[in-house]
Amino acid sequence: MQLNQLENHLDTMVALAGKLDGCLSSREVRFLALCAATLPAALGEVLEIGSYKGKSTTILAKSAALNEGGRIVAVDPLTLPATTDPSLQPGESLPDVFEQTLRDNAVRELVEFHQLRSEQLAANWTRPLRLLWIDGDHTYNGTKRDFENFSRHLRRGAVVAFHDVLHLAEGPIRLFCEQILLNPLFGPCGVCGSIGWAQYVGSGPNAHLYSQHKIKLYRKLSRLIQFVALSRASQSASPFKYRILRPLVPHGDVEPRTWYWEICRNLPAHESYFELAAGVR
Ligand SMILES: C[S@@+](CC[C@H](N)C(=O)[O-])C[C@H]1O[C@@H](n2cnc3c(N)ncnc32)[C@H](O)[C@@H]1O
Repeated sequence: MQLNQLENHLDTMVALAGKLDGCLSSREVRFLALCAATLPAALGEVLEIGSYKGKSTTILAKSAALNEGGRIVAVDPLTLPATTDPSLQPGESLPDVFEQTLRDNAVRELVEFHQLRSEQLAANWTRPLRLLWIDGDHTYNGTKRDFENFSRHLRRGAVVAFHDVLHLAEGPIRLFCEQILLNPLFGPCGVCGSIGWAQYVGSGPNAHLYSQHKIKLYRKLSRLIQFVALSRASQSASPFKYRILRPLVPHGDVEPRTWYWEICRNLPAHESYFELAAGVR
């Protein structure tokens, strides 16, 4: 895909997302679309945990479809079982809204949907993953369970992304800090909007290159944990000190070319992917 095609696609996804109800900012939409459109489909599946009304599902499905015609997998019981889930308007049926969103946007055929809790899907899951998007139960135990159940299926070069690391929820920020930023098996990483993301590089030759960057990000992000740990998030609406420290975490736009070039360095058989990346250089 040429860079201008990719840029056009990202703009189109932002415009589309503006019409959909859900919990993603424009910056986050661009990032998810970039991942699904560029991470090589040969690495494995795109898995979404937590679909709600289908906003990120639609963006991921449309973007993966550009990428060697890939489908995505999504899982959500659509019953809002977690204490951290958003709510519905009176009289709304989540399964109906979800199905309607997918049909209206012509992506129903592009989504293998499991109306289950993620832990039920995990029980029989064996497929490798290229993108693991964790946006389900945001409690510490819920996010931890999702990460533990599915991170073992990440292929070298795959990306894991947690939503709401910069929101008052305990799970995403703790898992991202403790299991990603302090983990030598993850390389390139960052925060885009409220998405904490990282590439799984395994114990490959490039793993050590990212330690300093990860520790620097850990130092800034981990200062926020005190405001959300041990269920403090539910007691306090964004305390003053949290509001001071939060903007100090770099969480701006990801520049597609630079991002993809860095990701390609860590793909298996990366020489052939550099050729692909030349298209978006
Ligand atoms: C924050 S919303 C997801 C937002 C969505 N990604 C979007 O783009 O708008 C969280 C969703 O996670 C789902 N959820 C909660 N616990 C879950 C679990 N154990 N497994 C799968 N989904 C879960 C809820 O039903 C809810 O729809």
